[in-house]
Amino acid sequence: MKNSLPINSITNEDCLTFIPRLPDNSIDIIITDPPYAISKGKKLSMKNVGKLSGFGGDWDIINEEWDLFSFEDYCILIEKVLTESYRVLKPTGTVFVCGTYHNIGIINYFALQANFNIINEIIWYKRNAFPNLTQKCLTASHENILWISKSNSWNYNYKSIKKAKYPFDNLKKENKQLRSVWDIPNNKEKDELAYREVFSDSSYWVKSQKPLRLIDRCLEITAKPGDIVADWFVGSGTTLISALNHSLPFIGCEANPKFVEVIKWRLNQRR
Ligand SMILES: C[S@@+](CC[C@H](N)C(=O)[O-])C[C@H]1O[C@@H](n2cnc3c(N)ncnc32)[C@H](O)[C@@H]1O
Repeated sequence: MKNSLPINSITNEDCLTFIPRLPDNSIDIIITDPPYAISKGKKLSMKNVGKLSGFGGDWDIINEEWDLFSFEDYCILIEKVLTESYRVLKPTGTVFVCGTYHNIGIINYFALQANFNIINEIIWYKRNAFPNLTQKCLTASHENILWISKSNSWNYNYKSIKKAKYPFDNLKKENKQLRSVWDIPNNKEKDELAYREVFSDSSYWVKSQKPLRLIDRCLEITAKPGDIVADWFVGSGTTLISALNHSLPFIGCEANPKFVEVIKWRLNQRR
């Protein structure tokens, strides 16, 4: 027996047990940012790099317990999450899955296997990306977001998006179609990081926190009034905050109880 949707709440649980309890065909938009499986289980060093002049950023290295997977276990996670996402999505719904070049191929493969239609791969161009410390390869300056649908009939807010002007995005001009490369700086507003003052223990900080304006744009291109937005890997709460700011009902799941405290605090600040 499937439960009804826990609207406007965050559940502290493994999403592999949470999603299966949700009813079929019940969610309009899923925006989710699973582990990337890129942590190596050891500390990265800035030794020998010296001072990086011109890079004023405040970067966090992703080296988290929750990101450690064998290749096989990671494939199992992504396969289950995408298969269940397909089941709970309404026929007109769409899903945005965040990734990088390390894992987006796996996401793409299991999305096709779950019967999703690939609408676009969005390249999030990060002009202030973390500099390359190894000096052995290119400086990775983008992440990927796969936008997928359950059928050929999904909502795209074409007119409003074409009209939109994003002052920080050098690739989007007013009254021009939105391209699949989004120029969105990875800076967070003061407000988005305010929780770090309240939860000063850094184990409460989500190192892979997405900027709100990235998730805002995902919602702005596809959301209609009343659409239900879900995220299975909520982290610091970016998707839920964006849904709240757009007056959309949401449901969220996050396995780490510390992050759930952060999410509840951030949501309460806005309610
Ligand atoms: C990449 S982070 C998400 C960051 C988020 N988009 C943000 O802006 O803060 C992935 C999150 O998934 C959580 N997580 C990992 N495995 C999980 C699972 N099986 N079920 C639910 N949450 C999980 C981690 O604790 C982490 O917070």
